[in-house]
Amino acid sequence: MATPLIAPSILSADFARLGEEVRAIDAAGCDWIHIDVMDGHFVPNLTIGPGVVKALRPHTAKPFDVHLMISPVDGFLQAFADAGADVITVHPEAGPHTHRTVQAIHALGKKAGVSLNPATPAKMLDYLIDDVDLVLIMSVNPGFGGQSFIASQLRKIEAVRKMIDKTGRDIRLEVDGGIDTVTAPQAVAAGADVLVAGTATFRGGPDCYAANIAALKTGA
Ligand code: DX5
Ligand code: ZN
Repeated sequence: MATPLIAPSILSADFARLGEEVRAIDAAGCDWIHIDVMDGHFVPNLTIGPGVVKALRPHTAKPFDVHLMISPVDGFLQAFADAGADVITVHPEAGPHTHRTVQAIHALGKKAGVSLNPATPAKMLDYLIDDVDLVLIMSVNPGFGGQSFIASQLRKIEAVRKMIDKTGRDIRLEVDGGIDTVTAPQAVAAGADVLVAGTATFRGGPDCYAANIAALKTGA
């Protein structure tokens, strides 16, 4: 199996000790830090704003992979860019002008990602793929950690892998939701190269993080 990058979702971290948790997953060998931003409107949960992202920035040099599940999104891009995001990912289902949003993220000097919910077809990417740096396939419905991987998304990962390869561009294919040591190798075999993992990274507490991340990388 190709070795995927692992992006722990800090949604499953201890929110009372977030800085420490980020340092711990950094030391444990994660590749990116995945930050789930929810607005209680596009998704039925409220989480992290740009102030928290800014407060976490000094705790690691690893890329901040900011997943915005908010609508409307354009008015918040600058704040997350200023807070230290490296990749900013948005949902086309959340707003009418995704192409404009992708351009706005690039104008802020950040990498732009587009995320597809489980019911959204790969076709949604037809007129976006040439402009994005990352595609994020949701393998659960967005809103909560700890849900089960939706197996039908493997076909979508395969389809998007083909689309990406056809562009010849360097585009990351990330999968988010229900990733564990069983589903990680399935997602990678289907073509994913970055795996988000909340529950599976933080399970067992700080002493387990390095082994948890290593197991997701090797599928062991
Ligand atoms: C869901 C979030 C995910 C979630 C993943 O809306 O985007 O990043 O936290 O959690 P697990 O790995 O527990 O499924
Ligand atoms: Zn996410």
